[in-house]
Amino acid sequence: MQELRIKELLLRGKPGTDVLVKGWIRTRRDSREFSFLEINDGSCLMNLQVIVSQEMPGFSQVLKLTTGSSLEVRGKLVQSPGKGQAVELHAESVVVHGIANPDFPLQKKKHSFEFLRQIAHLRPRTNTLGAVARLRSSLSFAVHSFFQERGFFYVQTPIITTSDCEGAGEMFHVTTLDLKNIPRNESGDLDYTQDFFGKPASLTVSGQLEGEAMAMALGRIYTFGPTFRAENSNTPRHLAEFWMIEPEAAFFTLQNDMDLAEEFVRYLCTYVLEKNSDDLSFFNERIDKDLIARLEGIASSPFQRITYTDAMKILEEKNSSFEFPVKWGSDIQSEHERYLSETVFRKPVIVYDYPKEIKAFYMRLNEDGRTVRAMDVLVPGIGELIGGSEREERYDVLLGRIKELGLNSENYWWYLDLRKYGSAPHAGFGLGFERLLLLVTGMSNIRDVILFPRFPGNAEF
Ligand code: 4AD
Repeated sequence: MQELRIKELLLRGKPGTDVLVKGWIRTRRDSREFSFLEINDGSCLMNLQVIVSQEMPGFSQVLKLTTGSSLEVRGKLVQSPGKGQAVELHAESVVVHGIANPDFPLQKKKHSFEFLRQIAHLRPRTNTLGAVARLRSSLSFAVHSFFQERGFFYVQTPIITTSDCEGAGEMFHVTTLDLKNIPRNESGDLDYTQDFFGKPASLTVSGQLEGEAMAMALGRIYTFGPTFRAENSNTPRHLAEFWMIEPEAAFFTLQNDMDLAEEFVRYLCTYVLEKNSDDLSFFNERIDKDLIARLEGIASSPFQRITYTDAMKILEEKNSSFEFPVKWGSDIQSEHERYLSETVFRKPVIVYDYPKEIKAFYMRLNEDGRTVRAMDVLVPGIGELIGGSEREERYDVLLGRIKELGLNSENYWWYLDLRKYGSAPHAGFGLGFERLLLLVTGMSNIRDVILFPRFPGNAEF
């Protein structure tokens, strides 16, 4: 007897064959002679219909099965007379592994996403979160395929770090000091020499700086790892722990960087349209009716590119309707990002050449002395999906920028070293994996596209 996952079975199961299936009950419905079980095993969105006759030995056990219970069923596949699926399983024996208590919260009714967040340990068993989890897996594979096919090497950058990549001070501290009894030095400051690393350490906000060191050796690299930001942003687009993909390439210009970013996003959309059509259809039907059309649009047509200065001209005309009116030098906020990508261009937009004042220290200064070679990819429904830049490869200019921004150059000694020993032009970007998940699912809250979200006030589970 062959054991099959439900996905396999629905695709290739032959009527007349004997199979073994293991999973969890979504629903049970009884008639006089039969019990009808809908079983899901997580391999796909679809359930398998199992029909148990009252003549089967142990039938009384089946009548005790509650929603959420786990079991294995041996039986014969039979062509299904009903619509929707090709085969059903006529049970010959049932083994019950675990009965779910009757208070199992995921009974067959609609639950709000807010409620489901409170039971994050159980919500992967819902259709929506199960589909999210499968898409995360599929897209992770696609990320690796994309870069491996193009000669980029996957490198692992540290999680614990002593450098603040974005220079924004939004780091979670890592310490083994006794917080009830903090050691102080002579001047009364915290004495980090007694801490585990002998100096202040944090969780990384980005693997970019170490990624640059690797790009100066391997030429083209990418990272894909967890990233931590202690920004107190209670928004549907921010997490305190998220996953980021950061390619970095030696001898790349900003132009090359934008080309790579665009190709990457279009590849990922094409990939899920091809490989995850069932889960995407589910999101299209239940969450966002325009989802598939939008993804097809992104996959098939070039992105708009516009300088920050030109974007500002467009935005300024609309200032009266913004919560935060803009002028040259202002940050582009979520409402502006969405106006550009959703209303003006109706497709992804790459804004580039930003004022240096609103961007990080490592971005390459343009000849005008006012702007840096930065780019952001803005997508409909979300806003910023990618942030990247060409890096400042000139030692003196980089040191000047670090000082200008009041950062401590000693902390960046090794990063500056890269500019002393065979410095080369290079560029890279970071794509927030959960923002990508928002794009491909049409879900509206980032806390629902990562299974165990971390955000201010929440690190449960
Ligand atoms: O624009 P960011 O801050 O860029 C960097 O970290 C660069 N070091 C990347 C690089 O050039 N190698 O972040 C990059 C992306 C954003 O565009 C966004 O998609 C995502 O990371 N992101 C977040 N996603 C979820 N929650 C947060 N708090 C995020 N902050 C940034």
